[in-house]
Amino acid sequence: MTTATSVDPKAVVAYYRTASTGELIQRADALCRSVHGDKVWLRGLVEFSNFCGMDCQYCGIRHSNSKVERYRLTPEQIIDLTVQGHEAGLRTFVLQGGEDPWFTADRVAQLLDSIKTRTKGEVAITLSLGIRPRETFRLWKNAGADRYLMRFETSDPDLHARLRCGVSLERRLEALDDLRDLGWEVGSGFMVGLPGETEETRIRNALLCYEKHFDMVGIGPFIPHPETPLAQAPQQPLELALRATALVRLLLPLANMPATTAAGSLDKQGREKMMAAGANVLMPNITPEDVKKNYLLYPNKICLDESGFECINCLDIRTHLVQKTIDYARGDSPSWRSGQSE
Ligand code: 5AD
Ligand code: FES
Repeated sequence: MTTATSVDPKAVVAYYRTASTGELIQRADALCRSVHGDKVWLRGLVEFSNFCGMDCQYCGIRHSNSKVERYRLTPEQIIDLTVQGHEAGLRTFVLQGGEDPWFTADRVAQLLDSIKTRTKGEVAITLSLGIRPRETFRLWKNAGADRYLMRFETSDPDLHARLRCGVSLERRLEALDDLRDLGWEVGSGFMVGLPGETEETRIRNALLCYEKHFDMVGIGPFIPHPETPLAQAPQQPLELALRATALVRLLLPLANMPATTAAGSLDKQGREKMMAAGANVLMPNITPEDVKKNYLLYPNKICLDESGFECINCLDIRTHLVQKTIDYARGDSPSWRSGQSE
């Protein structure tokens, strides 16, 4: 069905449909350990702006949520965070923000250049800034960015357009293809438990990840935010996200997959459960404590009072609970590396 080097997607999906959650997770965990060992890569997350021009129905920082206190870190603050993170041993930073027009193509390019210089070229930089024109992606790649994260959110085109104020799934996938063509290490993924999603949607989500051979896949439970149009949507159990994680692991043995903060927010042991179901990445949030409380995509988000550096100690203990070990290295995706040498 799946070995480290060959995957039969039809057989994997047939197995997924009938397997118990325990069995599915055990198989994904065994595969993950055979490919990635017991390593869990650390990524320092910087949520640099919660200004957003988009109005996604599921998202707590959507443009129409007037209750959000908006903030934007300065480029100097962002650079300082990466320098501190570099001194603490981190070797990957994820710069994530809402779709904030202040961060123009040129401003981001300058920021990338400064971070690369100040961290002696020793860190990988992952951007997560939403859909941008192909030429912007080219500029940023040339300025030294390494990876891009942009979840497709759901593979159901109608649901996608409805939830993302008319922006089509097709456009999202086109932007992901642009990134791939330009040589980025590409990450995507989806939420689990959106209203209107079915078991078939989740299977198609996983197969889309397989077809696009994403280097990184982030999966998290959807958590309804009270100040959004989806406030009344039911909370689905974490188990659905764990099953989806295991399914994607079986389809993409080489991918880097985070144990997401949303999983840890829905269930105290959510990240441990994700790591035991095939996830091999953790993302300590190094955004300053005075603003991180304003980056609430969903309610009850964890780690708001802790600095990212306190979280690293906590994560160290949590990884050991599932017999894994955190690793500070850059942790490039092996699937991207093999693609580059073709
Ligand atoms: N619940 C869980 N995850 C969410 N995201 C946005 N809103 C929510 C929510 N209410 C996820 C999306 C986005 C990522 C940054 O956070 O998948 O891509
Ligand atoms: Fe942040 Fe535990 S990981 S407090």
